[in-house]
Amino acid sequence: MRILAIETSCDETSAAVVEKNKSEKNVRVISNIISSSVKLHSQTGGIIPEIAAREQNKYIIPVIIAALGGNKDEMKKIDAIAVTYGPGLIGSLLIGVETAKTLSFIYNLPLIPVNHLFGHIYANWIDTNDKKDILFPAISLIVSGGHTDLVLINEHNKIKWLGGTRDDAAGEAFDKSGRLLDIAYPAGPTIEKLAINGDPKKFPLPSPMIDSSDLDFSFSGLKAAVVRQVEKLGTISEKDKEDLSSSLQNAVFNVLLKKTKKAIEDYNAKSFLLGGGVAANSTLRERLTKELTGINIYIPEKEYCTDNAAMIGANAFFVDKKTTWENLDANPELYFD
Ligand code: KG4
Ligand code: ZN
Repeated sequence: MRILAIETSCDETSAAVVEKNKSEKNVRVISNIISSSVKLHSQTGGIIPEIAAREQNKYIIPVIIAALGGNKDEMKKIDAIAVTYGPGLIGSLLIGVETAKTLSFIYNLPLIPVNHLFGHIYANWIDTNDKKDILFPAISLIVSGGHTDLVLINEHNKIKWLGGTRDDAAGEAFDKSGRLLDIAYPAGPTIEKLAINGDPKKFPLPSPMIDSSDLDFSFSGLKAAVVRQVEKLGTISEKDKEDLSSSLQNAVFNVLLKKTKKAIEDYNAKSFLLGGGVAANSTLRERLTKELTGINIYIPEKEYCTDNAAMIGANAFFVDKKTTWENLDANPELYFD
């Protein structure tokens, strides 16, 4: 079965063609095209929804054509259309959803609505060599610019939310702190680079809620702690930036590690799945691989961590939710339950 997938929940416009046969466990990516308005948003320090949606309106058709290899006849090989219908920015979601509905009507194809957060988890099922056999129960940690969630997966389609951030997401903590350090949006990748030469213990930044008995997180206090350090320093040298970046990563990752370990133990999980834009961070990837023991660990290739349509297509093979164009609406507030 071959699926055309569309993802436009935030500032990316992405389309992918993915394939999986019944006998296969994993999903093959035939194409995965991503057009981002991030350069426009790096000038403003964050996403302006209206600008994101206008860009997506311009690029959605060319991106889909590119995903089809520039050949409209490739549509004949497509069996279904998958699209992110939430959560996300309403103007952005509408562009993907309405385009998918139009294609579904014209080509008489079923529509598969996909929850963006599920997509981040199912990026772990992408594998050209069909080598992954992910066992349940699994614990997944989703760390992105909008979300920090721990979920339990008992079987496909049975995802239970266990805990999450009470305020800012992990990626948001990087992006907001980055603004204080004159780092362009999104700050995560630059903070990762700066941190390589930094001292993680130089600045005492808190790891909020690290000892709480639940599986929740809180990262908004970190930004305030970075503000205090910046004020104390007065002027910030490149070395200070490196040390602050490293200390910030350490503070965030320590709490992510601790709560993930707890969730794995509490639910006797057989697999751990990482997902979301922050999962592209090498330090986090290395620490999870080293510090989580006695469990199968799955982390998507970096290109499938940040927003992309291939992960939406991957999830579509496992959701039992085919619909038609008359019955699909974007839902910006969509969550897990
Ligand atoms: O999943 P994503 O592309 O979009 C959302 O669904 O939010 O995640 C974007 C977030 C941003 O906050 C960005 O700063 C962060 O992921 N991010 C990273 C890295 N790459 C992206 N954070 C830390 N290290 C990275 N290498
Ligand atoms: Zn995302």
